[in-house]
Amino acid sequence: MSQVIHLALLGCGVVGQGVLTQLKIQKKLLKSRQVNFAITKVLVRDPAKYQDLAREHQLELVTDIQDILTDPQIDIVIEVMGGFQPAEDYILACFAAGKHVVSANKNLIAKNGPLLIATAQENQVAFYYEGAVCGGVPILRTIAQAYSGDEIFNVAGIVNGTCNFILSQMSQKQLNYQEALVLAQKNGFAEADPTNDVAGWDASYKLVILAHFAYGRKVALEDLKVAGIENVTAQDIKMAQQIGYRIKLIAETKKVGNAITLIVWPTLVFESHSLGQIENENNGVFVKSNNLGEALYIGPGAGSQPTSNSVVTDLITVASEMKLNITGQTFHSFDEAGTVVPQNELQKTFVVFLTKELLTTRQILATIKEEGFTVTFQELKDNGLALFTQRLSFNEVERLEKFIDGKAYPIFE
Ligand code: HSE
Repeated sequence: MSQVIHLALLGCGVVGQGVLTQLKIQKKLLKSRQVNFAITKVLVRDPAKYQDLAREHQLELVTDIQDILTDPQIDIVIEVMGGFQPAEDYILACFAAGKHVVSANKNLIAKNGPLLIATAQENQVAFYYEGAVCGGVPILRTIAQAYSGDEIFNVAGIVNGTCNFILSQMSQKQLNYQEALVLAQKNGFAEADPTNDVAGWDASYKLVILAHFAYGRKVALEDLKVAGIENVTAQDIKMAQQIGYRIKLIAETKKVGNAITLIVWPTLVFESHSLGQIENENNGVFVKSNNLGEALYIGPGAGSQPTSNSVVTDLITVASEMKLNITGQTFHSFDEAGTVVPQNELQKTFVVFLTKELLTTRQILATIKEEGFTVTFQELKDNGLALFTQRLSFNEVERLEKFIDGKAYPIFE
């Protein structure tokens, strides 16, 4: 039997409990991979709530991080408490204490990933976080390893299950945003306060990490052009369907020369495009590269079991490195210098939807031309009009929107 690797959990929510269950029921599978894990301590704020769990899994509940940091038996700490603080201090303290860390904390890694990665390296300990992006879809490891001899130009994805569930339900059941959000909350796909997801922040955190892996670029959250889905209406979805498109929250980073674009925005995706077919809580990441061409990675982007599977895979990776005595390598494969295209220079082709209640199509087109915009158009049902623009900046399309009282969406291209 291989040597027991002792683990501690920081936090015991949905993902933490998923990890406990997975390690318990997969003992046989892990044995065949010659790893033997034992979670011995769990850091929680309120131990009274976890007594049954502690008994079932024979755990010691602790409330002070020092109980874990000073325990020489603990090799790997699994951080699934989320948030910025105290998670960041705890992870840095674990590194300093020579403990390897596996995390699923996208907020923290997007904000302070470079510091965490450098500190792990300085201390020769492992730091893996597959569960931070797209839950169960192994996209970080795929980019880091399978693309190590390739050059990526474009990563675009549906990376937020909550938003995709809401938009799918609005489209499939003709619900308005509020009705679909309530349904998402009832089904456990949206939080009571859904802002982090629906405002596009969660997708932004994931895009920062994806850009780091795809291009080796350390980008800041402030570099991203971001909008969420709160203002997408049932009417917009209906109009988009009439011209053959779905509205999806797309997180995209493209390489343009030595610069990269970073956008999270509700986007028109052609309904026959593979990304247009990804429904409900599922995620999908489209990668375009020199050698591989186009590839798409689809799967469950959230949830206890898929995300804890990513955490357990990270644990097995750390166990292998421990065995070979090679811990302290970075998860992503390279670093590269380069710039980010400033937000006011980002350009897209847009469709602007409007209803022509007062003016005729001819009058609308004439006034748009006077303002210097070139558009083609398609008349829709119920007095609707879809205007297809030339490439415009987001500022320019905002001016067009105000001018004609329309609603613009970029086209995925
Ligand atoms: N709230 C996230 C989502 C969970 O909906 O995708 C997984 O990161």
